[in-house]
Amino acid sequence: MRLTRIAVLMLLVHAHARAETGAANECEKCHELELQAYARSAHRIARTLCHDCHGGNPAALRKEDAHRAEDGFVARCDDPIAFCGRCHEGVAEHYQRGPHYDRFDARVFDVMTCTTCHHYHDVEEVSEVWLKVNCESCHRVEPGRLAAGLRFFELVRLGRAKISALESSEAWLRSRGFACVTERDQAQTVRGLVEAIGPLSHALKEEECRKAEGELAELAGKTLDLLEEKERAYQGALVALLPAWLLAAWAAVALLRTARQYSLSTPKNGCSYAENTDES
Ligand code: HEC
Ligand code: HEC
Ligand code: HEC
Ligand code: HEC
Ligand code: HEC
Repeated sequence: MRLTRIAVLMLLVHAHARAETGAANECEKCHELELQAYARSAHRIARTLCHDCHGGNPAALRKEDAHRAEDGFVARCDDPIAFCGRCHEGVAEHYQRGPHYDRFDARVFDVMTCTTCHHYHDVEEVSEVWLKVNCESCHRVEPGRLAAGLRFFELVRLGRAKISALESSEAWLRSRGFACVTERDQAQTVRGLVEAIGPLSHALKEEECRKAEGELAELAGKTLDLLEEKERAYQGALVALLPAWLLAAWAAVALLRTARQYSLSTPKNGCSYAENTDES
């Protein structure tokens, strides 16, 4: 009974997962086990498929054809820093400046690398909960180190929130005809800072974290101030124009009235309006 339910569930997960892929990805058909771990990973969500990491031919139906070295197939990954760093260059670079790389005690752990924290098939999107569980698995009695990790995580999140605030303010103003050239340039710089801070977190350098935090807060603050000033000016102008709008509306109403009276009392095609309606 339980086994059937599990089998049905696996089929459902599989069917759902396949439906999402679209492009031919025969790798998944033969690799149920790997698919199970990978199905909900950040990579699958981002459409980074088996062959994006392992190479090979994803459309091939036979194992020998799928696993050809000519198609860049790699079975094993000896060096995750290079393997993962191919796509996460900045992260790999900063990681190698951090405490987990250069001060790692080989007597305690064989190796510590990207996959020690993130794993490889079930790579999760990093969240606060994930962060706590992950860091505490080694640093249970050192709250300072967890705090350092949380501070970086918070910084990246704050940065992203600032970017979306900037973007929506910018869009609001542009939709009302403002050019926002300076603001867009500054928002671009803020975006650059946040992008640089993301991977920087792997270096876990306290001082750099503080510096980046300061720069980001200052620039984002300035840009938001500029945008808000424009919004206020725009709204102020609308309020200042209110009497003029009212006057125009009143004039329009008055004009319409006069026009209506004029058409009621003026004969059309030789007949008066009243006679016209009588006929119909
Ligand atoms: C027709 C079935 C089939 C297809 C299609 C297939 N594989 Fe495999 N693959 C296997 C089997 C069976 C094994 C395990 C036996 C072995 O090691 O040769 C395997 C092993 C592997 C391994 C581990 C190799 C090792 O030496 O440990 C990797 C990695 C892998 N496959 C990736 C892929 C990728 C990526 C694709 C798509 C491009 C793919 N496979 C397509 C059947 C398949
Ligand atoms: C983000 C990159 C990435 C993606 C995507 C990925 N793999 Fe892997 N895969 C790895 C890494 C890293 C290893 C570990 C190899 C090692 O330990 O030497 C691995 C190992 C494997 C192995 C060997 C068995 C094992 O668990 O060590 C197989 C088989 C495999 N992958 C198949 C797949 C298949 C099939 C998919 C798609 C469903 C896939 N992989 C998606 C990175 C990836
Ligand atoms: C073929 C390119 C590629 C390879 C190789 C690759 N990744 Fe990714 N990875 C991506 C893409 C694309 C995303 C989604 C966009 C993003 O968040 O950068 C992603 C997302 C992630 C995320 C989620 C970030 C988040 O919180 O949103 C982590 C963690 C990650 N990768 C770790 C790894 C690790 C560890 C490896 C090596 C086992 C690896 N990646 C190999 C392309 C790749
Ligand atoms: C000590 C555990 C640990 C190790 C080892 C580690 N990471 Fe991370 N990783 C994290 C934490 C914590 C975050 C969240 C902070 C952040 O978003 O920058 C993260 C975030 C990420 C992200 C998403 C954020 C971004 O800037 O795009 C990617 C991608 C990533 N790691 C890849 C890697 C790669 C590649 C390696 C190996 C070179 C690696 N990680 C090694 C803990 C680790
Ligand atoms: C696999 C075990 C492991 C995990 C997981 C781990 N660490 Fe570490 N960490 C170490 C080791 C080992 C060292 C270096 C030796 C030492 O300083 O004790 C270290 C050092 C550090 C340092 C440097 C301390 C100093 O004195 O400069 C910081 C900060 C740190 N870790 C933060 C974190 C954060 C944040 C996380 C979660 C993202 C994390 N660690 C996850 C094992 C781990």
